[in-house]
Amino acid sequence: MALAEFLASLDSLAQAARTDFANATDPAVLETARVAYLGAKAGKLRDAQKGLGTMPPADKPAAGKRFNEVKVAIESAFVAAQERLTSGKTATFQAFDVTLPGRAKRLGHLHPITQTIRSMKEIMGRLGFSAVEGPEIEDEWHNFEALNIPLIHPARDPLDNFYLSVAHASTNGDTVGEPTSPTPLLLRSQTSTVQIRVMETTPPPVRIISLGRVYRPDTADATHYPMFHQIEGLLVDRGVTMADLKSVLRLFCQSYFGGDDEVHIRFRPSFFPFTEPSVEVDMNWQGGWMEMGGAGMVDPNVLRAVGYDPDEVTGFAFGLGVERVCMRQHGITDIRALYQNDVRFLEQF
Ligand code: PHE
Repeated sequence: MALAEFLASLDSLAQAARTDFANATDPAVLETARVAYLGAKAGKLRDAQKGLGTMPPADKPAAGKRFNEVKVAIESAFVAAQERLTSGKTATFQAFDVTLPGRAKRLGHLHPITQTIRSMKEIMGRLGFSAVEGPEIEDEWHNFEALNIPLIHPARDPLDNFYLSVAHASTNGDTVGEPTSPTPLLLRSQTSTVQIRVMETTPPPVRIISLGRVYRPDTADATHYPMFHQIEGLLVDRGVTMADLKSVLRLFCQSYFGGDDEVHIRFRPSFFPFTEPSVEVDMNWQGGWMEMGGAGMVDPNVLRAVGYDPDEVTGFAFGLGVERVCMRQHGITDIRALYQNDVRFLEQF
């Protein structure tokens, strides 16, 4: 067979195969076409291959090259037709059954501590206190010295605090201490640090709360955890008294817990270096007294440390445990449950 004739027959074979595969409307027709063109024994491609054997040796390279091209073209036309038919089929199989019941989306919600913090902010906001934040990594000035806690005070024992192994001239972007004399840093052990930060930058009167994490190296048990939250309150103005402190705490507890029952606040004498006098705060709860935290009148030394004049202004401060309030509210008996992140526990609140 002449080369030109052979090449022409290959081209028309490819053309015919493409048309037949493209026209196949169901798998049986396609299979018949496949056998006709690609069948191993009597397929048309097989016949063409036989014709290749009879070509003169000089024409064989050109003829063989075209044969391979046509073979690839026919095979891919078949695969394309097969995919066209099967993909149509899967689409029918996956048809959406509108009568099936829907699958509900699982919704998350706020952690109980976050909920408690939000409602505390809301209640104190109504009493005119604005919420401020301070850094969790602190220097000794804000955590101790400005709060009238001297170097020899046991609260500064390295074993009772999370001191960091680095000392720095700056925390949270604020410059603290002299850049040439780095100050030791620690995770704040109380939110009273924020009292200092606010008074250092704001002239009186101030009326703020600060809610956040504090850290103490306690072994975790039902009532202790090395990290917990406090709500700190500070009001400094002319003529502020202990009666104002008690009223604010009573209104706060009444709004948070009260409902229809009348809430009473009890003060027990206590000591904090940064308040004088100092008290422990209890509220009546289910026939008994529940400890809320510490409070008192801001010590004149603290006012002086931030540049306030204790002869001009007085103030009260309080620091309450957020976990304690949240646990009492929900009847949670083990603080660790709040931080194990077991969704089965958390989703109850
Ligand atoms: N900072 C104290 C504590 O962590 C609580 C407190 C705050 C006491 C403000 C008095 C005034 O125990």
